[in-house]
Amino acid sequence: TAPEMIKVEHVGEKKNVALVTLNRPKALNALCNQLMSELATALKSLDDDKKIGAIVITGNERAFAAGADIKEMVNREFSETLGNNFLGDWTAVSDVRKPVIAAVNGFALGGGNELAMMCDIIYAGDKAQFGQPEINIGTIPGAGGTQRWPRYTGKSLAMELVLTGNKVSAQEAKDAGLVSKVFPADKLVGEAVKLGEKIAEQSPLIVQLAKEAVNKAYETTLAEGVHLERRLFHATFATKDRKEGMSAFAEKRKPTWTSS
Ligand code: HXC
Repeated sequence: TAPEMIKVEHVGEKKNVALVTLNRPKALNALCNQLMSELATALKSLDDDKKIGAIVITGNERAFAAGADIKEMVNREFSETLGNNFLGDWTAVSDVRKPVIAAVNGFALGGGNELAMMCDIIYAGDKAQFGQPEINIGTIPGAGGTQRWPRYTGKSLAMELVLTGNKVSAQEAKDAGLVSKVFPADKLVGEAVKLGEKIAEQSPLIVQLAKEAVNKAYETTLAEGVHLERRLFHATFATKDRKEGMSAFAEKRKPTWTSS
């Protein structure tokens, strides 16, 4: 059945970038169960779609997403959240093997910010606001906020945001290292798609290894990470695309990737 709370399009000149738009604007894209389940299903299928080289997730100019759906959570009991593995679906986002770009306009709050942080690259519109306001509603982040902020920006800012619910602007988020580039709001999605197209030009096999290597930096020691990187680098020598890339350079021509 077609999703109702997200929109999935194939975009870019070669239609090799997937644009996933969170589409529950009246609730500022609050991430209810249905939306997250549709998102998980879509991402899984895009990850397996050979025509797609990168995925962009966006919302609208007012909100990327204002968090998990508070109205849906208000009467929930501990036994239910535990028994039904509440938020279990969310790991689907960080499990994607292809690069995922978050294009954040407007509010990225609570679970909305955590969703952006599960992506590989965050581009922001100049009016974007990032934060973890859970403390204001008597809870704490539940989808990585307390873990990814300190790893991506350091402890002081992480603590400030998590303990106060203060928000940071796009520029502050960029200065802190959370966001790689800031654009005028109306240019944001186009720029994110262009970035996706640039990634989609590369060998999908090698892109997958490169993403895996960078992500390991957040999971392990430097020595283990460098070791894994070396092995993955060695592994590129088992692919035709590595040989093609180096041959094309030597022969002064553009490489033709075969994903083998
Ligand atoms: C459910 C939400 C919502 C949310 C906004 N809405 N955020 N509904 N869950 N997280 C709804 C409002 O109820 C309202 O619906 C409509 O969207 C528009 O919002 P307003 O508040 O009227 O807009 P505005 O005055 O511009 O304020 C925007 C805002 C505010 C500052 C973003 O909406 C806000 O503070 N939202 C909650 C942010 C938050 O606390 N997020 C963390 C959630 S907890 P009606 O029907 O009245 O028009 C969380 C836990 C994470 O994420 C756990 C892991 C996932």
